[in-house]
Amino acid sequence: MTVSHSAMPLLEVRDLQTHFPTQGGVVRAVDGVSFTLGRGEIMGLVGESGSGKSQTGYSIMGLVDKPGRIVGGSIRLGGEELVGKSEREWQSIRGRRIAMIFQDPMMTLNPVLQIATQMTEAVLAHRRVSRAQALEEAHDALVRVGIPSPGERLRCYPHQLSGGMRQRVVIAIALLNKPELFIADEPTTALDVTIQGQILYEMQKLTRETGASLIWITHDMAVVAALAQRICVMRRGRIVEQGAVGDILHAPQHPYTRGLMDSIPSRNPRGQRLRTMPDLDGAAGAAA
Ligand SMILES: Nc1ncnc2c1ncn2[C@@H]1O[C@H](COP(=O)(O)OP(=O)(O)O)[C@@H](O)[C@H]1O
Ligand SMILES: [Mg+2]
Repeated sequence: MTVSHSAMPLLEVRDLQTHFPTQGGVVRAVDGVSFTLGRGEIMGLVGESGSGKSQTGYSIMGLVDKPGRIVGGSIRLGGEELVGKSEREWQSIRGRRIAMIFQDPMMTLNPVLQIATQMTEAVLAHRRVSRAQALEEAHDALVRVGIPSPGERLRCYPHQLSGGMRQRVVIAIALLNKPELFIADEPTTALDVTIQGQILYEMQKLTRETGASLIWITHDMAVVAALAQRICVMRRGRIVEQGAVGDILHAPQHPYTRGLMDSIPSRNPRGQRLRTMPDLDGAAGAAA
C-alpha cells in the first residue's frame, strides 16, 4: 500500500547494495548507498566515471542488468518498499511514478516510429484515456519543454530532430504520466553548452511546476552547482560526502570532493546559469 503524507520524504534509500558477479569476482557497483530525497527537491549525484552513479539510478528504476542484482538494502518511494518487486510491478512504477532520462535519447526513442506514436503509447501504457486525449497531452508536453512547432515535431521521426530536440522529446515523454521522481543520467553531457544550459533551466522549472523530485546524475560538479539543492558525491560505490550545495561548494570535507571541485574552471554560484562545461566529447554542435 502507498502511504502518503507530506512529512515523509519521497525517496529513502538505505544501505543499497547492487552487485555484479563476474569471472574476476564480485563487482560492488553500489556498495552501501544511503540518502533521502524530499518532495520537489533536486539532488545532484556526482562522481567520476565508474563510481556507481548509473547503477544507483538503475537500481531505483528496477533496471539492473542481469547477472547484476540488488543484494541488500532498501528503496522506499513514498514509504513503499521497491526492493523485491516483481518485473510486472516494476512496469507499473516505471514511467508512471519514476521516469528516467538517459544520456542517449535513443535509449528511449524508437527510430522507426513517429514521435506522436511513441508519446501516445507512453500515455496509453499507463492510463485509460482516448488516443485523441493522449495525443493532446503529448502536444502539451512538447510545449512545456520548449519545443517550437510541436504539431510538426509530432509527425517527425527521431532522426529528423537535432540531438538537443531529441533529448527534449525524451524529457517530454518523462513528463507525460506526471511522475513523482525523475532520474536524469547525464542527459546533457553530449549536448553543446548553450543547449545544456537551456535544458537544465527547463528541468528546474518543470520540477518547480510539477512538485516532482529530481536526481541529476553527472560527473560534472559545475552542472549540479547550477541546478541542485543537495549533492551526494559518489566514489567506488559509496557516497563519500553529502549535503547542501552551498555547504559542499564552499567547504568540501572530503579530499575527493575537493578534487572534483578543482575540475570546475570557474565556480558557478548556486542558482546561476551554467557558464562552463569541461569534458565536451566532440558530439556537440547539434542545433537546438
Ligand atoms: N554489467 C556489468 N557487469 C559488471 N560490472 C558492471 C556492469 N555494469 C556496471 N558495472 C560496474 O559497476 C561500476 C559502476 O558503474 P556505473 O554505475 O555505470 O558508474 P558511473 O555511472 O558512475 O560511471 C563500475 O565499476 C562498472 O564497471
Ligand atoms: Mg554512468
